[in-house]
Amino acid sequence: MKMGVLGSGMVGQAISARLAELGHEVMIGTRDPNKLGEWSTLNQKAKIGSFAETAAHGEMLFNATNGAGSLMALEMAGAGNLSGKILVDISNPLDFSKGFPPSLIVSNTDSLAEQIQRAHPDARVVKTLNTVTARLMVYPREVADGDHQIFVSGNDVDAKSQVAELLKSFGWIHILDLGDITSARAAEMYLPLWVRMYGALNSGMFNVKIVK
Ligand SMILES: NC(=O)c1ccc[n+]([C@@H]2O[C@H](COP(=O)([O-])OP(=O)(O)OC[C@H]3O[C@@H](n4cnc5c(N)ncnc54)[C@H](OP(=O)(O)O)[C@@H]3O)[C@@H](O)[C@H]2O)c1
Repeated sequence: MKMGVLGSGMVGQAISARLAELGHEVMIGTRDPNKLGEWSTLNQKAKIGSFAETAAHGEMLFNATNGAGSLMALEMAGAGNLSGKILVDISNPLDFSKGFPPSLIVSNTDSLAEQIQRAHPDARVVKTLNTVTARLMVYPREVADGDHQIFVSGNDVDAKSQVAELLKSFGWIHILDLGDITSARAAEMYLPLWVRMYGALNSGMFNVKIVK
């Protein structure tokens, strides 16, 4: 499948490399292709483009841009290039302007995922993967052989089921549908706890497991 990954950081690079490894036709999007020079020599199968070129290329899109810049990045991607497509939103609305620990730019009664869905009503936004570190997103079996949960939120049931198939191809076993896009508030508001666990455990290679 043609995949467009918006974002050149750890997440965009990890998702792009894994999608290429799985045989997808990948383009990774950035405002500055020069920053991906070293990465692209190691990942020659992935193309590099602007946000707009990447969004036009992808049949399925990923938002792996900084939460504070996501709305701007998606505007640069072009509403027409997002229309009708699944947009897997991995971003977190973290505000590091006052240092560590970060606070949230949006919370409680709204979320970044909802802001993105409102800004692009024709895109099929599915929030997922934002609750784990980049490596674990794409190699979930590296922790407890995959015996832990990933969440999905979104209004479009078919889009969530297509994203669940993709997550399974990454190695995810336990995929928990939290509900419509408003449930992304909870997944985003988990981040303050994630950040504290990261500090306490001194590693990002962990996740939560639901027990009943
Ligand atoms: N790092 C993780 O393990 C992790 C885990 C879970 C969720 N997340 C979330 O995933 C997203 C990506 O994280 P990351 O660590 O890979 O990288 P990041 O440093 O948070 O984001 C880098 C990307 O954001 C773009 N960007 C930044 N400011 C922008 C602006 N004002 N307008 C347009 N684009 C802008 C950059 O564009 P250029 O390419 O042009 O520089 C770059 O592509 C974030 O929302 C983060 O919270 C990260």
